[in-house]
Amino acid sequence: MTALLLLEDVSYAHARQRPGPAGFGLEKINLQVEAGDFCGILGANGSGKSTLARLCSGLYLPDSGEVLVEGYSTRDEQYRQKIRQTVGLVFQNPENQFVAETVTAETAFGLENLGIPPAEIRRRVREALDRFDLGHLAGTPPHRLSGGQKRRLSLAALWVLRPKVLLLDEPLSMLDPGSKKKIYSLLQELRREGTALLWFTPAFTEVAAADHLLVLEEGKTAWQGRPEQFWGEVGKADRWGIELPPVYEIAAGLSPSPPPVASEEEFVSWLWK
Ligand SMILES: Nc1ncnc2c1ncn2[C@@H]1O[C@H](COP(=O)(O)OP(=O)(O)OP(=O)(O)O)[C@@H](O)[C@H]1O
Ligand SMILES: [Mg+2]
Repeated sequence: MTALLLLEDVSYAHARQRPGPAGFGLEKINLQVEAGDFCGILGANGSGKSTLARLCSGLYLPDSGEVLVEGYSTRDEQYRQKIRQTVGLVFQNPENQFVAETVTAETAFGLENLGIPPAEIRRRVREALDRFDLGHLAGTPPHRLSGGQKRRLSLAALWVLRPKVLLLDEPLSMLDPGSKKKIYSLLQELRREGTALLWFTPAFTEVAAADHLLVLEEGKTAWQGRPEQFWGEVGKADRWGIELPPVYEIAAGLSPSPPPVASEEEFVSWLWK
């Protein structure tokens, strides 16, 4: 069967645009994402997360290796439109994504490009604004929104196109705890409906419920496995620049052999043991 998203030995070097040493590119990354998967890519600042997200979306093309979306190479011009509909990239900074004057126009933009009839566009935009709790902001310019509202708008503008996989580049960064919770649960809802999530972050807590993890270190795969196996590598988290769950850090202060806890519930049940 053809994978939804397949990376085969993907390497990429940034063109040297600044004086000084060139940033890390990516080296021989292999990854497979199937429909409905939740996959976490962990790595420090500068480890290559955003570069990898752009390669997965076809925004960058690999120097060697292949990125295949439902079997179609991102190099192949004739499938670019189809790939863009299948894979939705949520930028690290949502501002870089916005092109329209209002929340409604931003949400309609992708559908208009596909030539969908206006009545159908209106129906789907209304549905998306409801779902992402943006209805009361329909006429607001995107740059006036709060951080959490911007994130929800970037998700709504992709969701109207029904992507099969969402590439989420640090989707919870720079948000207050309330917005983090709201967006996390919206994303898990999409996942339950069958959208695959490829989630890039330095924070283990955000991807503790993933099916599969890959750790990037200086553009290379340092480790791959399931979240419960990650605890065996926890001693390397510091070197990898990965933030551990705050509850784990507290447990580590209380016990020389801290338990693998990622949530408050797990922490509390450990405390009572
Ligand atoms: N357009 C570019 N030109 C040259 N170097 C770049 C470019 N974009 C990124 N880099 C370099 O490539 C490396 C990987 O950057 P990337 O943005 O992919 O990392 P990241 O893991 O997303 O970091 P962050 O957590 O800060 O978002 C870094 O060393 C960065 O400086
Ligand atoms: Mg980044």
